[in-house]
Amino acid sequence: MRAQGLQNASEQSRTGVTGSTSASSGQGSATACANIALAKYWGKADRTLNLPAVESISLTADSLKTETTVHFDGDLAADEVVLDGAFAEGRSAERITRVLDWVREEAGLKSRARVTTYNTFPTGAGLASSASGFAALVGAAYQAAGLDVDAAQVSRRARRASASAARSVFGGYVRLAAGVPGDDSLAAEPLFPAEHWPLRMLIAVVDRKKKATSSTDGMERTRLTSPFYDAWVTEAPKYVEEIRLGLAARDLERVGRFMERSTLAYIASALAADPGIVYWKGSTLDVYHRLRLEREEQGLPVWMTMDAGPHVKALCEEADADRVRALLHSLDAGIEEIIEVAPGPGLQLHTCHASVC
Ligand code: DP6
Repeated sequence: MRAQGLQNASEQSRTGVTGSTSASSGQGSATACANIALAKYWGKADRTLNLPAVESISLTADSLKTETTVHFDGDLAADEVVLDGAFAEGRSAERITRVLDWVREEAGLKSRARVTTYNTFPTGAGLASSASGFAALVGAAYQAAGLDVDAAQVSRRARRASASAARSVFGGYVRLAAGVPGDDSLAAEPLFPAEHWPLRMLIAVVDRKKKATSSTDGMERTRLTSPFYDAWVTEAPKYVEEIRLGLAARDLERVGRFMERSTLAYIASALAADPGIVYWKGSTLDVYHRLRLEREEQGLPVWMTMDAGPHVKALCEEADADRVRALLHSLDAGIEEIIEVAPGPGLQLHTCHASVC
């Protein structure tokens, strides 16, 4: 990181971002982890610039990864995107081309690009694939364009593609402030490094299918039609502050309690939209209730969050992860898979040689 960018070693160890965007000519390759919000983002202050209406805090999730390669090629007539082995079409292909256009514009490039991207987890199913996907895409595209930019600029561009992606540029615990309409400078910032607190998140995957309403559409419908949207935007900063203080003090009860409040408050605003946005399945509630009962009656320190999908994500100390996993395994609640994540690294840019990228 340079100044706050992608080459300086001390900055690397603080943020976990590694590699240089200026290393290659024509090709770039990057790996980014998804992230799970502890304090939720839901709703935009500016749709054009994709600025969030509320501040959010996330944990970068080490085992949910996207690997992306971008190759600008003067012989291509159009951008070509292969996502998990299949050609991307429609809205996902358009969103990727839009990101490539921003980078082309900054670099003064005309060439179209070949993009290959793989996720180590189900895409578009409420497991934050757009966060890791756009962070990796922006990093790889800047590198392929030979532009020497800092981590904040990668985060800023990733934010315009998908606000949660801004957070995936950094490792550990990360904050993205609320946006100011019209101000495109907003980037995420590292809050605490992964080593600060090795928490665990166990994700009970209850349905791998792609979700019916994207988070972008869901939050916009909530903003436009939910009578509870303004209340959510007013309350959200209180949860953020409690979660930040809880993280600083390594106080899981404080983090967990306000993570659940942030989760249930944004979901309440979405449920009250017209038509209501309901990401939960029956199994979501079965898992949630069972874990909550174990906390309230058996004292298991575990707290739950849910995103724009049906999965339940259980936050606990490293020492309790086996107990939480065993409990999830014992449930007859339609859990298809349990994924364990720990705080992970930020965006990694790989040295790329023409023959191997
Ligand atoms: C519920 O970042 O996917 O996961 O900016 O429109 O792409 P866009 O939305 P996105 O929304 C994530 C919503 C969430 C909460 C969170 O991650 O903070």
